[in-house]
Amino acid sequence: MTIQLMPRLRAVKEIWGSSAQQPHLNQLLARLLPTMIRGRRFGSDWHSQAADNDGASFNGSLSANPLEAFVDFHTHGRGMWKWTHYLDIYHRHFQKFIGKEVHVAEVGVYSGGSLEMYKSYFGPKCRVYGVDIREECRSLQNETTKIFIGDQADREFWRRFRQEVPVLDILIDDGGHKTEQQIVTLEEILPHLRPGGVFVCEDVVGEFNGFGAYVAGLAAKLDTCELVRGPAKELSSAAVPFQADIDSIHNYSYVTVIEKRARPIRQFESFTRGTDWAWVPLWERKAAAKS
Ligand SMILES: C[S@@+](CC[C@H](N)C(=O)[O-])C[C@H]1O[C@@H](n2cnc3c(N)ncnc32)[C@H](O)[C@@H]1O
Repeated sequence: MTIQLMPRLRAVKEIWGSSAQQPHLNQLLARLLPTMIRGRRFGSDWHSQAADNDGASFNGSLSANPLEAFVDFHTHGRGMWKWTHYLDIYHRHFQKFIGKEVHVAEVGVYSGGSLEMYKSYFGPKCRVYGVDIREECRSLQNETTKIFIGDQADREFWRRFRQEVPVLDILIDDGGHKTEQQIVTLEEILPHLRPGGVFVCEDVVGEFNGFGAYVAGLAAKLDTCELVRGPAKELSSAAVPFQADIDSIHNYSYVTVIEKRARPIRQFESFTRGTDWAWVPLWERKAAAKS
């Protein structure tokens, strides 16, 4: 009885706490809940088109993926454990760094096979940093790989890490996979990544996963909009600090990828071209009526 009650009490306490902090946001989310449930239902009822697909459609295939070759040949040596579909996700977001001086960290070293894969993929100018809670991983340190032993849920650990690794382009979180560990890692490292950097969190598993919910809240910030209308049809909205630095958030099965902008954006702007319009928008008619 007590065992079942505790998580419910904790949930009530958390909802109560966030209601007190941001009451309007709680009301908005409560209103949106049926829409979320509707979206989930549409996904659950989805009929796969795989059976009808003759393979002739645009498949968005990438250039040959060197990670696949590495994995195919890596039959011996240091152990590596990944979901197969991650290889295409990595290649899509990492290929711009191949051959460059790129600084890559992975949380979750285990037997070191994945660190070898990144080194082989990015090339000789790549610097690799491994983070793990287990002391055994220290033995994997060498001239191109630095190992840090610590708990990814410990903000003080990350403060020390940032001091020792002042430049970082990519972080892959394949550590403990608990929501709090994933959130702390994101909060401590995303602001630290260089412009153009990529943050990857792996094994975000299960519908309405805790980290997935956190990312949904974060992603909402990308859509912030305070519209300003120009004298013609043009619209603009000043970028809030998060929009200025963060380019995009990608949800894949079990993986979240966040890309930082190469250059900050100050303002979003719309443009118009052409002279023939099907009708005059309502706001233009209202403005004309006022003047
Ligand atoms: C799934 S394994 C990593 C697999 C490896 N990246 C690979 O591809 O083969 C997870 C690793 O995370 C480490 N780990 C678990 N909890 C951690 C924590 N709180 N902080 C840092 N590392 C942690 C474990 O010791 C383990 O080595």
